Amino acid sequence: MTTTVSQKQILDALSKVNDPELHRSLTDLKMVRDVVIHAGKVEVTIALTVSNCPLKSQIEEDVRAAITALPEVKQVSVKLISMTDQERAALFGEPKEGAAAPYNHIQNVVAVMSGKGGVGKSLVTGLLAAALSKKGYRVGILDADITGPSIPMLLGLHGPVEPGPVGLRPLQSRGGLKVMSMNFLLTNEDQPVIWRGPLIGKAITQLWGDVMWGDLDYLLVDLPPGTSDAALSTMQSLPVKGVVMVTTPQGLSAMIVRKAVHMTQAVGVPILGVVENMAYFICPDTGKQHFIFGPSHATEITLAASAPLMAQLPIDPNVAALCDAGHVEDVKLTEIEGLIEAFVKAAPVQAERQHG
Ligand SMILES: Nc1ncnc2c1ncn2[C@@H]1O[C@H](COP(=O)(O)OP(=O)(O)OP(=O)(O)O)[C@@H](O)[C@H]1O
Ligand SMILES: [Mg+2]
Repeated sequence: MTTTVSQKQILDALSKVNDPELHRSLTDLKMVRDVVIHAGKVEVTIALTVSNCPLKSQIEEDVRAAITALPEVKQVSVKLISMTDQERAALFGEPKEGAAAPYNHIQNVVAVMSGKGGVGKSLVTGLLAAALSKKGYRVGILDADITGPSIPMLLGLHGPVEPGPVGLRPLQSRGGLKVMSMNFLLTNEDQPVIWRGPLIGKAITQLWGDVMWGDLDYLLVDLPPGTSDAALSTMQSLPVKGVVMVTTPQGLSAMIVRKAVHMTQAVGVPILGVVENMAYFICPDTGKQHFIFGPSHATEITLAASAPLMAQLPIDPNVAALCDAGHVEDVKLTEIEGLIEAFVKAAPVQAERQHG
């Protein structure tokens, strides 16, 4: 008598295979549509939640591996189809605000702030994100600069973004960062966003709750200058663990950054550390250090913020060129190592969730 694998065994095996994004089993998500068994040959049909699913080959591989591991299975073929809008709505409900949030697991939300414009907030966000990712952390960037987004340009990313089953899918940078910006949602990148405060706040909460960030160790929020709409909305509606405060040596910058320090203190968000950007310039001809913007005010800011100085970054024409070319992930500065060490110390990742 020849024994053969049963449909129940196959469904049991597939009930242990999770959708890698939604962390629910394929059977629970009603993705297993058909199982045909004939003389040790198994043919399964899997309905993807969306047709453009970027993880379809991983799902196919996981299904194949789970069935191949069963006894009496000689051959497995996996047919992929996709759910209809009705099927998706029956499973996840009609699309609604904040639908992605329950599927996201983000350990540390950290805002990069200054109060002052043009001091290098977006650069520091990009440098931190790229260096954390190179260390193996899972990192995202939420561009909260709704009206003047720089993150897409620093990373050379352009929309549009694709919809996923429960929200929008962030774009992936060359270095593997998950990135979402208002710019990706505009039909024309040059189109200005002319919005008042409440809409800015709403846009930020949507970039948080309507985006499939998935599992992240760090989500860095690049704030626009100022201490009002975007900064307030971010700190009041997102679970911000702390702020990295960016400053430059100018006296004016120090004065405005102190305001930002007081604002974060007023809303009860801790300052994790201070980064002084454009601290000095090393002349390539003489190797001499020049303090273009005058003497450092970093100590003053760190005292006001009760936070450590994480780094003093030089003015470097290579940095500016790489930023303009969309290659912020390729910036190499010796100061970055110390910056990351101080950052991870201030916002550590729990061991059991690291590199998952
Ligand atoms: N240390 C540096 N060396 C060279 N260029 C720099 C440095 N820091 C910033 N820049 C350049 O200065 C410009 C402004 O930097 P960035 O966009 O990061 O500032 P920002 O504080 O985010 O500005 P905004 O207030 O508009 O958001 C960028 O074009 C960047 O390339
Ligand atoms: Mg910026």
